[in-house]
Formats: sequence, C-alpha cells, structure tokens
Amino acid sequence: MKKVYVTREIPVAGLKLLGENFEVKMNPHDRPLTRQELLDAASDADGMLCLLTDKIDGELMDALPNVKGYAQYAVGYDNINVPDATARKIPVSNTPGVLTNATAEMAWALLFAAGRRIVESDTLMRSGKWGGWGPMQFIGGDVTGKTLGLLGAGRIGTAMALKSKGFAMHVLYTDAFQNEVLEKELGARRVEMDELLAEADYVTVHVPLMETTRHLMSTEQFKAMKRTAYLINTSRGPVVDELALVEALKTREIAGAGLDVYENEPRMAAGLSELDNVVICPHTASATVSSRDGMAVKAANNLIAMVNGSTPPDCLNPEVLG
Ligand code: GLV
Ligand code: GLV
Repeated sequence: MKKVYVTREIPVAGLKLLGENFEVKMNPHDRPLTRQELLDAASDADGMLCLLTDKIDGELMDALPNVKGYAQYAVGYDNINVPDATARKIPVSNTPGVLTNATAEMAWALLFAAGRRIVESDTLMRSGKWGGWGPMQFIGGDVTGKTLGLLGAGRIGTAMALKSKGFAMHVLYTDAFQNEVLEKELGARRVEMDELLAEADYVTVHVPLMETTRHLMSTEQFKAMKRTAYLINTSRGPVVDELALVEALKTREIAGAGLDVYENEPRMAAGLSELDNVVICPHTASATVSSRDGMAVKAANNLIAMVNGSTPPDCLNPEVLG
C-alpha cells in the first residue's frame, strides 16, 4: 500500500478518504514540524498533504524522492516553490473555492470589529469600568453608503464585495482583469490603486502573495489613504509592510485596521498588539466547519489523484502531467 504523510492533524473527513486509499502517517504534535523532523517523518512517503506553515522547496523535494505530489491544505500557496516542483515534474495542488465565503465573512467581521471598535468596547465592559452610556463613547466608522476598495478581485474579493449589497456601498477595485460580475451586480469600477486609496473608506486586501504584491501597502500607500479609512487584510501578511502599518496606526495616518495575517507569523511587528485601533485575529479566516471540512476533502482528493499518477482536480502546474 502506498504511504502518504500529513504534516498536521486536519479534519477527519479528509483523513478518512486518505485512509481508504493509503497508509497514512501524520504529525502527532500540535505545531509545525521543523525541516529535519519533516524529512525524517516523511522519508518513505509517496505523497504529502502540507500546510501553509510548511516550507516546500526544491531542497525538500530532492530529499524526498518518492513524493509524487504535494497537496496544499489552503488556497494560498506562497509557501511552496511551484517552479521548483514543475522543474522536477512533481504536481502541486491547492484548495480553491471551499473557503471563499468563510474568508469573505472574516473580512466583514474584521471590518465591523475595527470600524465599530468591538474589541475595545468588549475590553472596557470586562474591566468593570464602564460608567454608563455616553454621547462621545466609542464613535467609529460608518459602513452604509461608504466606499469599499478591493485590492484584488478574485474569488474571495468578489465574494466579499457582493456581500456589501445590503450596505449600499460604492465599490472600487484593482485587478489585472475586468470583473464583470462586480460591475454588473454592484456598479463597481476598476480603478488605479492611487484612486482607490484616495477614495476608499475601507481598503480590503485580496491579492495572493507574489513578488509583485509584497509590501503592496507601505508608508506611501497609508499616506494616500483617508485618515478616516480602515485597512482589512485576510490574504497574506507580507502584502502589507507591517512596521509601516504600526506607524500609520500610531500616528493616526489611518483610522484603524483589521488583520488576520502577519508578515512573520506567528510573530507580530513590535508595537502592533499594543495599539487600540487594530483588531488582530490568529489567521483563522477559513476556520469554519464547512470550510475546513471542504479543504480536507479537497486536499485528500487531490493527493489521491497525484499519488495515483493522474492530474488532481486543483492542479497548480498541470503541465507536469501532460
Ligand atoms: C489560508 O490562509 C489559505 O490560503 O487557505
Ligand atoms: C482565492 O480564492 C481568490 O481568488 O481570491
């Protein structure tokens, strides 16, 4: 029987599928493995189900010559060197679609939490220091009728924006492609980034991490935003220059931020967690029951296909299998 290695416990729906097809070994710890631990544990594996916390590059691939495919349990795959895999004719897959709504919902949760100062308010209530209703307490940002600015209008950005309908928002987006759904459904406009930053009351990040999107948001971009605007990031931490963000939040260059991802996870930039105008979540945008089950099933089905030598449904480099 062929063997697969799962780099961290995932929902049983995926493990069950794998178990029906392969001998399954799994990281027993509730933490990512080090490179050496992973190499030792997966030395006889024919396939690997990996996570965004695993660095998968050519060196690892060469050290695990039996592995016939890497199935990422995430939609983002910047932790995997796909060109290295392609050069070695190894297929790689991800899990698009099943986490789109969960991630879009998290962007909204952060938008409201930051705009309406939910965490600061909750902290005050728990402190026992609330003195009763006050006309100047916790005044935050409006949502209805305001302008939503999407940096990236792929699956998740589109889903996020479509949910703005109930709030009658004006929608601007940047993307390499025109998004007909957003234009038709919401009257959204594709604009240059400068215009988006100058106009948006909420800037929400939905681009993948690539060399061209690293530090897409930095000092200059925060200065270009309105002082009353908020930044929401549910994509990847390094898209935002986190030290520049701390500075922009500290100096009130922007009103606030809602973050699910960080530049050097699990660490945060110095000073970030001391600011009261940022809401910080531990990279949990896809953490809903149906989303995580869907990711587990998708990753398992992709891995089953790859270990059996066929093209997985969500292949990132289909050219390797012809
Ligand atoms: C999670 O961050 C993902 O990319 O699925
Ligand atoms: C990811 O699924 C995206 O296209 O936004």
